[in-house]
Amino acid sequence: MLVNTKEILLNALQNNYAVAAFNVYNLETVQAAIKVAEKENQPVIIALGERYFPTVDVEGFAALVKVMAEKTRIPVALHLDHAYEKESIIRAIRCGFTSVMYDGSKYELDQNIAYTKEIVEIAHMAGVSVEAEIGSVARGAFSDEEEGNGTLTDPQSAKEFVAATGVDFLAAAIGTVHGMYQGEPKIDLALLDEIRIAVNIPLVLHGGSGTPEDILKKAIQLGICKVNVNTEVSIAAVSYLEKFIEKKQIEHLSTIMSEMQLSMEPVMTKFVRLLSTK
Ligand code: 13P
Repeated sequence: MLVNTKEILLNALQNNYAVAAFNVYNLETVQAAIKVAEKENQPVIIALGERYFPTVDVEGFAALVKVMAEKTRIPVALHLDHAYEKESIIRAIRCGFTSVMYDGSKYELDQNIAYTKEIVEIAHMAGVSVEAEIGSVARGAFSDEEEGNGTLTDPQSAKEFVAATGVDFLAAAIGTVHGMYQGEPKIDLALLDEIRIAVNIPLVLHGGSGTPEDILKKAIQLGICKVNVNTEVSIAAVSYLEKFIEKKQIEHLSTIMSEMQLSMEPVMTKFVRLLSTK
C-alpha cells in the first residue's frame, strides 16, 4: 500500500530500525525494490531524483509506482530525491509523491531556511512530507549525484533549521559520500549523536553505498531512519552488463533487462536486511 513517508519513518524512529530508499530510474529498478521489500516483509521508499526528470515520464512513473504499491501489503512510499527547483517539487506533489526532498544545501543557512520553509508550506498543504539537508554530502566514485563540498552538519544550525522550517526529516552530513568511498570512510558518529539530540526528528543518511555495515548499524541506533542507496545497485547491474558483453552472445533486450533486474536484487536484499534488523 502507498503510505506517507513520514508515517514510515516515525515508525522506524520509534522502533530503532531504518528503511531503505532506493534510487530508481526505470521499471526494473522499481520492480526489484518492491519485490525485495515484499520478500523481506519490510517497508520501502522508492526515490526518483530530479536529475532524471528529463528522461523519465514523471506522471507516468508516479502512476505506475502507485499501482504497484497498492498491489502489495508492505508500506511503499514515493519520494522525490534531491530536488533543487520549486517547479519539480510542485510537479511531484501534483502527481502523488508522498514526500519531497528540497536540497538547498549549497546556500547559506538563512537562505536555505527561507527556501525550505516555502517548500514545507506548499508540501504540507498537500499532506506531503519534506526532507531537507544542511551541511553537504561529498561525492565519491561512480556516483550520479551533484558534487557536494563535504561540510559536516553543525548541530546548532540543524536545531535552528528544523525549528524555523518545520521539515519532517533531515539529511545530516556526517562524512558519508554519495557513491563509493575513495580511501577509509571517516564517519562522525559522535556528531550524529549531537544532531539527534538537537533536532529530535527522523534523520536521513545519504550515501548508503559502501558504508561499512557496523557504521550503518550504529547510525541507526543514533536516529538514522532512512538510508539512501543508489551506486551499489547501479554497480551490480553494470557489472552484469559488462560480463554479458564479454560473452559476445546476442540476446533479446527483454532478457537483458530482466537479468539486470535479477542482478540488482541481492544488493537491495543486503540493505533491507541490514537496516531492518538490530
Ligand atoms: P549512494 O549512491 O552512495 O548509495 O547514495 C545515494 C543517495 O544518497 C541518494 O540521495
